[in-house]
Amino acid sequence: MKNHTRVLTLAVVCAAAIACTQSNLNSLDIDVLNPGAPIQPTMYGIFFEDINFAADGGLYAELVKNRSFEFPYALQGWKAFGNVAIREDGPFERCPHYARLTDPGHAHKQTGLDNEGFFGIGVEAGKTYNFSVWARVPDGGEGAIRVELANTASMGEDQFFVQQTVNMSGSTWKKYQVELKPEITDPKAILRIFLENPRTTVDLEHISLVPGDALEGIYRKDLAQALADLHPGIFRFPGGCIVEGTDLETRYNWKNSVGPVENRPINENRWEYTFPHRFFPDYFQSYGLGFYEFFLLSEIIGSEPLPILSCGLACQFQNDNPEAHVPVKELQPYIQDALDLIEFANGGTDTKWGALRAQMGHPAPFNLKYLGIGNEQWDQLYPDHLEPFVEALRKAHPEIKIVGSSGPDSEGKQFDFLWPEMKRLGADLVDEHFYRPYDWFLSQGARYDNYDRQGPKVFAGEYACHATGKKWNHFYASLLEAAFMTGLERNADIVHMATYAPLFAHVEGWQWRPDLIWYDNLRSMRTVSWHVQQLYGQYKGENVLKLTMDGKAVTGAEGQNGLFASAVKDGDLVYVKVANTSEQDQELALNFNEESGLKAVKRIVLKSEELYEDNTLDNPDAIVPVEASFTGNGKSIKAEVPALSFTIFVLSR
Ligand code: AHR
Repeated sequence: MKNHTRVLTLAVVCAAAIACTQSNLNSLDIDVLNPGAPIQPTMYGIFFEDINFAADGGLYAELVKNRSFEFPYALQGWKAFGNVAIREDGPFERCPHYARLTDPGHAHKQTGLDNEGFFGIGVEAGKTYNFSVWARVPDGGEGAIRVELANTASMGEDQFFVQQTVNMSGSTWKKYQVELKPEITDPKAILRIFLENPRTTVDLEHISLVPGDALEGIYRKDLAQALADLHPGIFRFPGGCIVEGTDLETRYNWKNSVGPVENRPINENRWEYTFPHRFFPDYFQSYGLGFYEFFLLSEIIGSEPLPILSCGLACQFQNDNPEAHVPVKELQPYIQDALDLIEFANGGTDTKWGALRAQMGHPAPFNLKYLGIGNEQWDQLYPDHLEPFVEALRKAHPEIKIVGSSGPDSEGKQFDFLWPEMKRLGADLVDEHFYRPYDWFLSQGARYDNYDRQGPKVFAGEYACHATGKKWNHFYASLLEAAFMTGLERNADIVHMATYAPLFAHVEGWQWRPDLIWYDNLRSMRTVSWHVQQLYGQYKGENVLKLTMDGKAVTGAEGQNGLFASAVKDGDLVYVKVANTSEQDQELALNFNEESGLKAVKRIVLKSEELYEDNTLDNPDAIVPVEASFTGNGKSIKAEVPALSFTIFVLSR
């Protein structure tokens, strides 16, 4: 097997050593006649946070950066030429800035603006791009701008490759729109705007360019499709540390993310500066992808929305002074935000926030069922802050399930303190986070086997297998995630939700990796971890089936040949998932109850010759699951799982 001569971690070497000393026939006994715990529809889902340019420059289809001139430096993302002034008495109260384009002073000079987009503006030949702008002619009469898509590095005759004139009239602000249809593809274009008649001043605000094929005019099509194809049962949003803010002023305030997009104030994005070695000085949150867009997308892709709100604690990684947080007795506005969000999602159109939802285009409720309070919080501060939320929410909305946090660590002091606290406060689910190395994933197959069945349910809200030191997406990490997930599935009575993290990353704008889906301005790529999530989502099943080897759950334990396994029933179908983390092919006997009458249908195999590589934008299907034949029927069916592979066996009655 190519590449296996590379140095493996101690954990893999151990797994291989175990494999060498064990028999290669592994008898898996599966009780198909006594279905166990139901698997929740919410079991496998997604977690969206605006990190790695996931929103602006990513899922949010807007191609213009700083479209409303609201960044702290009003012309960030723009190059102004000629006579451009930024003014701040515009038509949108919470976004007051706009650009005034005036006579450059000479007939041969030009006034205008270039926008650089997010790492350039990606456009494709033959597609339509919708340009819109709020504008007025302050002195009245007729004005015009010329809008172009251009490439300043172009070696051709012209820099521009498509242009349109936008005519405007009168001193009242109005929205104007034109379509641009480029005949060439360019991943790195700019948007250029010229004042057409230098003697007529025009004012421009909220300058937007959106691909005509954006889903609902909001979501970048290929990225939204990559989410839909996961069949996610739960959709956690908007973070993550984003929720908390580096300080309370910059926490995610959902009320700023709803209503007309033109009037949503921007927020800083903490991922601009969190890692100075991956610094992005013009990373802000436009809130164009706000809470309405979150609820709408949840509905479109069939997920239960799970909003996370600030509990009044600013990011504790960055604030160890108590003054950084809201004192418990002053939490009421934060609690009201939570109550108002439920009204926004579920309230009648005769309520204040329900009416806004209707005005935005969705009179029917979004049917919100879950709400998380706090992200990675810790110490006594957290239960103290959570408690008044729980009291108020239980009183006003007993139907809403509350998600609490177990802090940033997968175990240890804070984790051990917070779990009992969450139980004491009556949280319905507890969010656990683990970005952990190979040996952790290899050792956690039985993690949930002995959890308290009487307490809150588990939400594995952020997890990914990380190599030690340099971190990147690669097959071996994804395989260990697949192995670990057999333990989630086997414990579906207590594990009700699981979401990999982070979700998205722009190849030129990432701060954190590995991530589930990568993209540039025109292309996207689904990682092997995406395929693992997709397989679990697609073959989720309805009930857990008991699966054992020598009477024990198959958790990669000593003597189990590096195998992790679980089984579920789905109507007349049975899915058996087996991750083989050893370096040897393994023979299996899938043993069923005598009367089961099952026959093999197919197997889906995910494996790679290149353990430390992943799909790429140039080769997006290098490592994908492959369907293979699988035959046999009756009480015992022979099967094989290749070394270092993840296989799903599909059987039918
Ligand atoms: O997923 C990236 C970050 O990891 C999240 O914002 C935070 O919750 C965790 O520390």
